[in-house]
Amino acid sequence: MVDKNSPDESKIPRSLMKLKRTEFISKIELNLKEGKIPSDLQGHLFLIAPVGFANTPYGDGTPIFNGDGMIYRLDFDKPGEISLKSRIAKTPCYFADEATQTDERFKEYQFKNFGLGRFSLLLGLRNQVNTGFLTAEFSKEQTARLFITYDAGRPYEIDTDSLEVVTPVGSNKEWQSEVPISIILSFLNLRVSFPFPPVLSTAHPEFDEQTSEIFSVNYIRDPLDLLESTPLTPLFIDNIIKDLKKAPHAFTEFVEQNIRQLTGQGLINDDNPIIQFLNGAKNFLSRTYLIRWNGQDSFERWKLVLPDGLPVTIKQSMHQIGITEDYIILADTSFKFELEQLLDNVPVLEIDENLRRCLATRAQLPDTTLYIVNRQDLRSGQCSLSDEPEIEVIAQKITIPLELIHFRVDYKNPGGKITLHACHNTASDVAEWIHDSDTSAYNHHPTPQFLRGLMGSQMDIGRLGRYVLDGRKGVVLESKVIHDLQRTWGIGLSTHDQRNQLAPIRHIYLQSFGFRSELLTDFIYNLYKDYQYRLIPLEQLKKIQDEDRPPCLFRLDTQTMTIDDSYEFSIGQVISSPQFVPRTHSTHERDGYIFCTVISDKGDEIWIFNATKLNKGPICQLNHPSLDLGYTLHTTWLSSIGPRTADYYIPVREDYEINKEDELTKKLFEEAIYPNFERG
Ligand SMILES: [Fe+2]
Repeated sequence: MVDKNSPDESKIPRSLMKLKRTEFISKIELNLKEGKIPSDLQGHLFLIAPVGFANTPYGDGTPIFNGDGMIYRLDFDKPGEISLKSRIAKTPCYFADEATQTDERFKEYQFKNFGLGRFSLLLGLRNQVNTGFLTAEFSKEQTARLFITYDAGRPYEIDTDSLEVVTPVGSNKEWQSEVPISIILSFLNLRVSFPFPPVLSTAHPEFDEQTSEIFSVNYIRDPLDLLESTPLTPLFIDNIIKDLKKAPHAFTEFVEQNIRQLTGQGLINDDNPIIQFLNGAKNFLSRTYLIRWNGQDSFERWKLVLPDGLPVTIKQSMHQIGITEDYIILADTSFKFELEQLLDNVPVLEIDENLRRCLATRAQLPDTTLYIVNRQDLRSGQCSLSDEPEIEVIAQKITIPLELIHFRVDYKNPGGKITLHACHNTASDVAEWIHDSDTSAYNHHPTPQFLRGLMGSQMDIGRLGRYVLDGRKGVVLESKVIHDLQRTWGIGLSTHDQRNQLAPIRHIYLQSFGFRSELLTDFIYNLYKDYQYRLIPLEQLKKIQDEDRPPCLFRLDTQTMTIDDSYEFSIGQVISSPQFVPRTHSTHERDGYIFCTVISDKGDEIWIFNATKLNKGPICQLNHPSLDLGYTLHTTWLSSIGPRTADYYIPVREDYEINKEDELTKKLFEEAIYPNFERG
């Protein structure tokens, strides 16, 4: 039997954990490795990938999703030629990060990797804008606008021609932070400014072409839920108590008595004054806002409440939202961000890494909660820059079995019926990556070092679902869920022809990661062994080791709910970032090409498939000696690009409130940040 724990025997390409951060500001022409470049390509394809940080080598154990965003653009301007341009997304916090690494004066402000995020205790959380795109064509007179996105930060608009970051969407005042930093700082009378507070949003906002509106979200999670989610909380509380022993006696006694009561009798105990306080604060602290933006002014927002008046509270994340002609669909998605995702590298507790992980994390929820808002109820919202009272809007709650990160919805909803296409990444946890302490679930040997930072294996087969929902009543009317024993292991990203928003989504192209037993660790196995909707029995999962499932590109027919075309890659390849590119004079929604990235130890490549004949294999493979991609994520396609013509702009100097007495932060902004955003 092959020892998968020997790096030499690994079927996972080592190059997956290596990349170059080189920016191709001047275009390079890709080399044709095999096949023929189609002569009827058109437009421009954009990809984005986290590419680590200048001072932190990729592959040191940091999760691969934690890194500066690199924007890549493929141009199809000349027949028979494909050129590439790329640029790192340089937001204000990017420059702050750079300065604190290189300038001794700012050393105490340094950002460090904390699990999935990058954080400076005195400055805040990096907004890496490394995940997805939003395209918006507000008017035919303007060039199409392009935004890059991140789950834990506001979107930024980029110039489609230069790829430079231009402006955030919404000023800092318009976004509400996960932690009420300004209140805490003024309460503690601290002079630090904390200019980059964490802001929770979605990596997939939506643009309505019919009404020229962008929809997004801004939510603040329930602090009690965060505490309840982890058995580590009592340990934290014990540590807090130790520190409090140094405080005045009467105060310590009060806090200790109440906190002990929490840990001893379970966290939810309504008699406890601290819980009473937290419960009272819950409605204030935990909230979810729907945002609508016209691309020019400050945005409008509504606070979401359930029909019984209680606020909508998000348990995991809102990675994706969807819009139809009459409804906005929000989802609590299967991408957790909890204590464990932040505790990595933090010597908070002097306990074994594995024990800490077991205590600090939990399996993701096996069901999906959807929230549906009727657009007719969105008359005018609270202006995000005013002190007007909040405006509430009711969201219908629907729970469907099986978790998801991504979904798409048909724009039309005849008779109030919403059609939702779901990618169920079942028992799969992108927020759990391979650590030093991980061992194989098969032979319990340590997992090879070079895999550290990659996400762990899924623990059941992925599924594809089509649901018909009654938007008015908030109920599921129909559902159809399928899987394929060879092709739906590790369903990831997807694409479809998005040129006609009004057309029902008939074909979706998806990429799957395959099943790779090397990534199945004891930790992941134990976390998901009791998965509620298991299809593949654990005994069978354990037998797959000698016949891993390779990655796949396939097409789903959403009417028949069948996979009607597919191409299987080799197990030594990892594919990502599928994107539909229509042919010139394309006549139907499959009349085009599917692009994807292919990473293997032979190098990183771009492959092109005929969208109607995936099973024939790639018609073209491209590479370049300098092309060393990161793990590329989402993509988009634009028919044309050009220097940005929109006026919307948030001036950086006015956007950040720097405490007058915080001389060092003032210096950091004056020297390292503002000069990069001066408009000529
Ligand atoms: Fe996504």
